[in-house]
Amino acid sequence: MGGTTAQPGALGDVIAWRDGRIVAIDQTVLPHELRMLDITTVDGLVDAIVRLAVRGAPVLGVAGALGVALAVRQAEREGWDTARLGAEVKRIADARPTAVNLRREVAATAAAIPRGAAAVEAAANAVRDATIAVSRQISERGARYLMESAGDVPLKIHTHCNTGTLACLGWGTALGVIRALHGQRALAHVIVDETRPLLQGARLTCWELGQLGIEHYLACDGAAPFMISQGMADAVVVGADRVAANGDVANKIGTYSLALAARQAGIPFVVAIPESTFDDATERGDLIPLEQRPADEITHVLGVPAAPAGTRALNYAFDVTPAELVTAIVTESRLIFPAGNHG
Ligand code: MRU
Repeated sequence: MGGTTAQPGALGDVIAWRDGRIVAIDQTVLPHELRMLDITTVDGLVDAIVRLAVRGAPVLGVAGALGVALAVRQAEREGWDTARLGAEVKRIADARPTAVNLRREVAATAAAIPRGAAAVEAAANAVRDATIAVSRQISERGARYLMESAGDVPLKIHTHCNTGTLACLGWGTALGVIRALHGQRALAHVIVDETRPLLQGARLTCWELGQLGIEHYLACDGAAPFMISQGMADAVVVGADRVAANGDVANKIGTYSLALAARQAGIPFVVAIPESTFDDATERGDLIPLEQRPADEITHVLGVPAAPAGTRALNYAFDVTPAELVTAIVTESRLIFPAGNHG
């Protein structure tokens, strides 16, 4: 990694379909390097998803959809039969377990396979277009809700992980809400959790906020509940990877502590998602598959050993926040109050 910061205006093609391949920003090397990936095979896409070069629930949905188009192209090139194509498509859907958007958009796009490659590509691009379109609606609805309910503007917002253009295209979800508040001159500043272990907050959210000219402060994950208790936030706003039918929310590890702290401090805990992040087939949060990642993401910091050699680690990538701690869920089409007592 170099010492410079990638330049503003660089978010045009977080992920897109170009001449039969997927081009995507490699999010592992930001903010110091803006490197584009040129993905031509299912292996290449699965690798990019597994190592979080392509990440964030809505972008995973887009990657899954474009991945089906990629698999169809590869099947034509390499003469795969239907069973092999089905197995490769399933490999894309299974690349990460928690974000429901990935398997949902893979399944939706794969339904076009019998109509041929052009139909699959059109379906995949439609998923991408829709993902961009809904992000603006989520952002504006969320900002309106907070301006009406969270106290006097300008608001101090605490957020976690990365939920902006890099994760969602368009404006993003939670970061889109923050952007819309900023546009309304209703934002004081943002507190950004670093988001251990892979630092999506420090590396990606701070980079996006910097590009947008939005005032922000970086904080350690462990400092967040204390800072919230000291009145340093008027609301917590986060995204999600999956919301169960009962309103339980799976999101980046560290989210649950924010929800507990928000409840204790009496401030709103708001989840901004596209409707496609709801999983009505999963009744409760304890049934959501939570990804555990390799130990070296914790025993090492950005590749540098930190813990003694041989230390065993438990690397949960996501946690579940019970619905009763969620003040509101904001989507492109509605506001939901899972706890039932905030409106
Ligand atoms: O492991 P990641 O970086 O893919 O996790 C991303 C998150 O947890 C985001 O908060 C979530 O996907 C919502 S993005 C709108």
